[in-house]
This record gives sequence, C-alpha cells and structure tokens, in this order.
Amino acid sequence: MEFGTPKAVEDLPPLTPDAVVDLSQERKDARTDEILNALDDDLIGLVPVKTRIREIASLLLVDRLRARFGLTSAPPNLHMCFTGSPGTGKTTVAVRMAELLHGLGHIRKNHLVTASRDDLVGQHVGHTAPKTRDVLRRAMGGVLFIDEAYALHRDSDRDYGQEAIEILLQFMENHREDLVVILAGYRDRMDEFFAVNPGMSSRVAHHIDFPDFDLAELESIGRLMLAENGYALATDAEPVFRDYLALRSTQPRFANARSVRNAIERARLRHANRLTATTDRVGRADLMTLRPEDFLASRVFATERPEPGTPT
Ligand SMILES: Nc1ncnc2c1ncn2[C@@H]1O[C@H](COP(=O)(O)OP(=O)(O)OP(=O)(O)O)[C@@H](O)[C@H]1O
Ligand SMILES: [Mg+2]
Repeated sequence: MEFGTPKAVEDLPPLTPDAVVDLSQERKDARTDEILNALDDDLIGLVPVKTRIREIASLLLVDRLRARFGLTSAPPNLHMCFTGSPGTGKTTVAVRMAELLHGLGHIRKNHLVTASRDDLVGQHVGHTAPKTRDVLRRAMGGVLFIDEAYALHRDSDRDYGQEAIEILLQFMENHREDLVVILAGYRDRMDEFFAVNPGMSSRVAHHIDFPDFDLAELESIGRLMLAENGYALATDAEPVFRDYLALRSTQPRFANARSVRNAIERARLRHANRLTATTDRVGRADLMTLRPEDFLASRVFATERPEPGTPT
C-alpha cells in the first residue's frame, strides 16, 4: 500500500506560541488513522502489537507538532525487536511499520531492506565491514529488518558476526533520525542474544512480543485469506476447516498464520483437481466454494503418524 509522500516538518508552516492545532486534521494529513485502521482490518489479533504501534504513532505525531512550535528534542529511539513464533506476522508488521514511519515523516523513504546473517557477515578477514556497510547504505532513509538476528552471534573467537554487530550498533546510535533497525527472531534466542550483547539490548527501545494465535484467530485469518482470494467455505466445510486448524496447530512445524495460508493453498489445489476431475459444467459458485473433501484429504487428518516432512 502506498500512501504518498508526507510533507517534511520543515515544509510545514511554523506555529506561533499561542496557536492551537486541530489534532484530528494533523492525523488526517499524516494519514495516521488510514494506516492504523488498515493495520486493524488486515491483521487479526495481535492486540499488544497494535497497541504499541498506536503509541509510537502518537509519539511521532506529537513530535511533529512540537517541532512546528519550535520545541526541539532528540529524535526518538525507534529501534525495535519483534519476537515471536514463526508465522505470527513479524515481517508483515515490519512492512506496515515502514509505511507508518514514512507517513509520519520519521524516515525519508517507505522502504524496508531485509537482511540476515549471510548478508552482513563475511567468511574472511576484511569482508564483514564492507558487507554490513553496504546493507546499511541501502537501508538508510528507511527500515532495516534483520531476520533471525540472534544468528549474528556465534560462540567462537573466529566468528565475524561480532564485527557486524559493532558496526550496526554505531549506525543505530549515530543515524537514529534516518534509519530504524528492527531485529526479529524467536523469543528465547533473542533473549540469549541480548544477554551476550547488552549494547544491542540497550539500543533497542521497543521490544514487541508477537503472541501465538488462538484457534478462533487462526480461523478468522483463514476467512480473511479466503475472502481476499475470492473463495468461500461451504457451510459443511466450516467445522472441517476448524478441525483441520485444531489438529494442525498441535503438529510439528506448525507456523501460525503461514500454516493457515499453506492449508488454503493446498485446498485450492484439491478443489481445482476435484472440479476438473468430476465436473464438465462449472458456475461461479463452484469455482469459489471449498468443500469438506478439499480439506479432509489432508494428511493432517490421517490417524497414522505423518511421514517426516511438512504435513500436507
Ligand atoms: N495477524 C494476521 N492476520 C492475518 N494474516 C496474517 C497475520 N499475521 C500474519 N499473517 C499472514 O501470515 C503469513 C506469515 O506472516 P509473516 O511472514 O509476517 O510471519 P513472520 O512472523 O515473519 O514469520 P517467520 O518468523 O517465519 O519469519 C503472511 O502471509 C501474512 O500475511
Ligand atoms: Mg518473517
């Protein structure tokens, strides 16, 4: 989603000390509500995450106003850490965060550069610094998203990860107004990472935990994904889909919303096969409707132990 380029604070008229500002107009101009409402509508659950994002939006909005009254303050520290299980929406929210920070004029570009250990850390002496700097240069003006950030640290004297961390720390400290770093990963591994890198922990102002989705949320996520793709569940497929999710969420390699997406992809495949195998004439409703058998054929329902590999 593109919300256009916001006006930089410098381009807005300064305010006299006795001026009074219409906050709702300000929110409109910065498109805050538009972005926050889209976040509410498009993402199920994640209440603590959404609350924190609203707080950050308020902080930036107030900061913008303060600047126009000539009240200057240090740019806020917006480096963040997103912890949570696979498929809980960390990457998705990071993309939305870039939009919001851009909408509120905190970063120049609405862009997010994703990097993992391999993009930052070299294999040989002298390779790490240029690699890390190159990624930072590309991210500058926007958001740098470091997935599985704990992988930067390895318990070995001969590892170059620490060099990358030091350079990152420098940039996080010195380019706060022009770069937001978001670290992401599993909760316990990030905790361990921060324990051995206290400098990193103290530079991250917002530690945001992404909770696992409960069954009702997984179901809502599924419905949302189906609707977005122009599919619907037949009435008798609804309890089957719920049973599928209940079973799948207890099985290995369950990845929250991503597993819901995968389940729907596979149901689409079975649906298409069913239609082409059994029907000559199809109408719009047939093309849209997923039936119980599109889920029941899944190995998730098999009583015997599934083969190694992702259940399908
Ligand atoms: N709250 C939500 N509501 C609806 N869809 C969601 C929600 N959270 C995630 N999704 C969808 O689930 C999928 C996985 O989300 P995402 O990639 O953001 O998870 P992640 O936490 O980054 O996972 P990983 O830890 O494996 O990188 C995406 O297709 C996303 O659109
Ligand atoms: Mg991710």
